[in-house]
Order: sequence, then structure tokens, then C-alpha cells
Amino acid sequence: MEKTLSIIKPDAVAKNVIGKIIDRFESNGLRIAAMKKIKLTKEDAGKFYEVHKERPFYNDLCEYMSSGPVVVMVLEGENAVAKNRELMGATNPKEAAPGTIRADFAESIEANAVHGSDSLENAKKEIAFFFAEREIL
Ligand code: CMP
Repeated sequence: MEKTLSIIKPDAVAKNVIGKIIDRFESNGLRIAAMKKIKLTKEDAGKFYEVHKERPFYNDLCEYMSSGPVVVMVLEGENAVAKNRELMGATNPKEAAPGTIRADFAESIEANAVHGSDSLENAKKEIAFFFAEREIL
């Protein structure tokens, strides 16, 4: 059993497709162990995406991620990190396989509907960024 962090980004929350995205997870063997809807500050987004701080898109990404509410979740299941990434599809929705969340709901490489941890090690850090132990059930 693994745990991974998922974020439904501001574009998907604004489109009112939270439930449709959660259905993809639950229908594919992932369970929601924790969940909340929050609005990040630009500073929060900056800390969360600190690994990208030298990238040219960092400032825009932080602006975007703090532009509206997001839903953060801990997903649990067998191979949860890889399973979530498979369900999300490629970062750029133009390259995402048909039937993936990004192919179906994303707008652009920045407004790409969902975030998912890219490794088990990062999943642990990202989960701890948003959730206390007692919130993960
Ligand atoms: P995410 O999985 O949340 O991780 C970093 C985010 O940076 C990524 O999804 C994209 O939304 C965003 N991003 C914006 N521009 C780029 C880019 N040129 N290459 C990769 N990621 C980008």
C-alpha cells in the first residue's frame, strides 16, 4: 500500500468537475485517505513548488496555483504513486493519452487540472506539507 498526494487545481475546481475527477481515482482502486478544499497563498504555492524555483515558469505557476481554490487529497492504494500518474496523463494535456484526467479536463500545461506526486519520497514530503497525521485516515 502506498500513499500519494493529489491536487485538483484551480481550473478544474472552477469547472465544477471535482466529483468527476475523484470518480477516476475511486473507480481505479485508489481510496481517499484525506481531503480538503483550500485557497493557497502565493507563498504557500512557492514553498510547495520550491523544487521548480529556478524554472522559467515558477512565478506564473505560483500565481496560478494561488488564483482560486484547490482540493488536496491523500490517495491510498497499491502502487498509488504510479497509478495516480497513469490516471492523470502527461503534464501537457496535448500529449496526454486519451481517457486520462488531463486529456479530458485540462486547459494547458499550466492549468493542467491535477498535480500528483512524482515519487514515493516526494509523496511523503507533499503529504506532510498539507496534512497532519490525525487527518489521514
Ligand atoms: P505539476 O504536476 O503540478 O508540477 C509542476 C507544474 O508546473 C506542472 O504540473 C505544470 O502545471 C507547471 N508547468 C508550467 N509550465 C511548465 C513547463 N513548461 N514544463 C513543465 N511544467 C510546467
